[in-house]
Amino acid sequence: MELEKKLIKVAKESSQNAYAKYSNFKLGVALLGKSGKIYRGCNVENGSFGLTNCAERSAIFTAISEGEKEFISATIFIDSDKIFPPCGACRQVFAEFCDSDFKIVYLNKTGKIVKTTLGELLPQTFHL
Ligand code: THU
Repeated sequence: MELEKKLIKVAKESSQNAYAKYSNFKLGVALLGKSGKIYRGCNVENGSFGLTNCAERSAIFTAISEGEKEFISATIFIDSDKIFPPCGACRQVFAEFCDSDFKIVYLNKTGKIVKTTLGELLPQTFHL
């Protein structure tokens, strides 16, 4: 299967694991590492709402935990008619590990798809 289609398939599958008891927004991510491995992530909510982890951060924390150091793209599936780009917190976490040409593709269940880059979504980054 063509890589872009595979990433969309994995992102959709991952969204089905989301724990979205409070918002009902299920998101799934397929994060492509430079090694060629694909890492999954989904949002995991909590009754103490501020403890919720977004799908994007779940994916990158998993990848870093497994030893991946560099990334090519994130494909994000939103199981909704709504569509939105990654939140500010996730952009900042991506920026810790990814260059400005890191590809971000997000799509929803109506088939709407947006392709952008981290550099477009977060043009000025905070780095120590
Ligand atoms: N969410 C994500 O997973 N990624 C984002 O970039 C924005 C929001 C999740 C968190 C929460 O479970 C639900 O969407 C509603 O905010």
